[in-house]
Amino acid sequence: MTSTVRGEGAHVPSAPEFPMSRATGCPFDPPPALKAEQEQGALRKVRLWDGSTPWLVTRYTDQRTLLADPRISSDITRSGYPSPAPVKGSSFSFILMDDPEHARQRRMVTAPFTIRRVEAMRPAVQRIVDGLIDDMLSGPPRTDLVQAFALPVPSLVICELLGVPYSDHDFFQENSKTLISRSATPEQRGTAHGNLIGYLDELMGHKIARPADDLLSGLGTRVEAGELSRREAAEMGVLLLLAGHETTANMIALGTLALLEHPDQFALLRDTEDPKTVAGAVEELLRYLNITHTGRRRVALEDIEIAGEVIRAGEGIIVPNDIGNRDPEVFADPDRLDLRRDARRHVAFGFGVHQCLGQPLARMELQVVYSTLYRRVPTLRLDTGLEELSFKHDGSVYGVYELPVAW
Ligand code: HEM
Repeated sequence: MTSTVRGEGAHVPSAPEFPMSRATGCPFDPPPALKAEQEQGALRKVRLWDGSTPWLVTRYTDQRTLLADPRISSDITRSGYPSPAPVKGSSFSFILMDDPEHARQRRMVTAPFTIRRVEAMRPAVQRIVDGLIDDMLSGPPRTDLVQAFALPVPSLVICELLGVPYSDHDFFQENSKTLISRSATPEQRGTAHGNLIGYLDELMGHKIARPADDLLSGLGTRVEAGELSRREAAEMGVLLLLAGHETTANMIALGTLALLEHPDQFALLRDTEDPKTVAGAVEELLRYLNITHTGRRRVALEDIEIAGEVIRAGEGIIVPNDIGNRDPEVFADPDRLDLRRDARRHVAFGFGVHQCLGQPLARMELQVVYSTLYRRVPTLRLDTGLEELSFKHDGSVYGVYELPVAW
């Protein structure tokens, strides 16, 4: 590792590169170098792909303090914003905007994600999960769990909620994968984004002509009322479609792998019907795996004093919530997967005004999945060696590309 120089006037050329690499053979743990930064406790500068040197904030309390601070911005177009990869284009969804525009647009799509509305969807999600398990069990006793189960569950659910035809899943899954891959070129990501925008825009046209009882039709009404441009509505559709399936799918597959590697924890979920135990297990898996592993990205709007340093206006900030969730000052023995611990304070859904809009939906889907799959397929096992698996080190959402399982 490089020297420990920090702060204003620091010898920044020594800044370590970010993102850092995970240790071989430890697919569930954040990079050791990130852990070492957290042990030191101080803020420090890191170097990104473009040579820029934003601040890295590793302690849980500092992370939450900063993410709740109105003097930080998520606006990717601001100078100093620490972008994870080269960006093409000028139009973005509200996840990359600041209030008041962020809040105005977010409010337009909040209603379907309230706990009450999400709970009303639970029986339908249970039917989807049971149907996919029936299909698995009626075929040969081995499959790739990603394709057979982990991807279809959240894709079917978000399609139903948005009003997107599930028959188009190959198209939107493929383009979403490219859009969040850091190894794709800016041109490839630009094309994938353009494809998705074009698709959502066309769909929006149909919804405006023939409104149905779904989220996109609701946005269509707002477009007609002049509250939202067609482009803004399409950007929102892309955000919701992508966030709605990619994240939860990776939590299902990676979570299953983590449980198969921890048989005592697998047994706990397999043998329980207690909703509280299942809900607690979901929180712990979210904390432990923290699949959004490239950090929350922000830029300071004003000078901010924190942890003995001053982040100057215009400087970039990276808040890696994966290491925040492994802070021993908040979670005892943080590197142990312990489904019985109280993990509810985790920051896997972020913190502050941009905290995940879809978290009630993600929680409910994961609760249904984790309480059903292992109970119905109690002999589930990995059908390959852990070292044979390919992990999504290159994506902004972490997970496994394939998960061969047998039963
Ligand atoms: C386990 C699954 C999920 C995880 C771990 C996750 C994680 C996150 C995180 C960390 C953020 C904060 C981004 C930031 O601070 O910059 C976020 C925001 C967001 N998530 Fe999720 N998410 C999940 C599922 C979902 C689902 C199912 C949806 C549904 C469509 C969704 C929609 C969103 C949206 C719209 C935002 C932007 C919120 C804003 O900017 O105000 N997410 N998510």
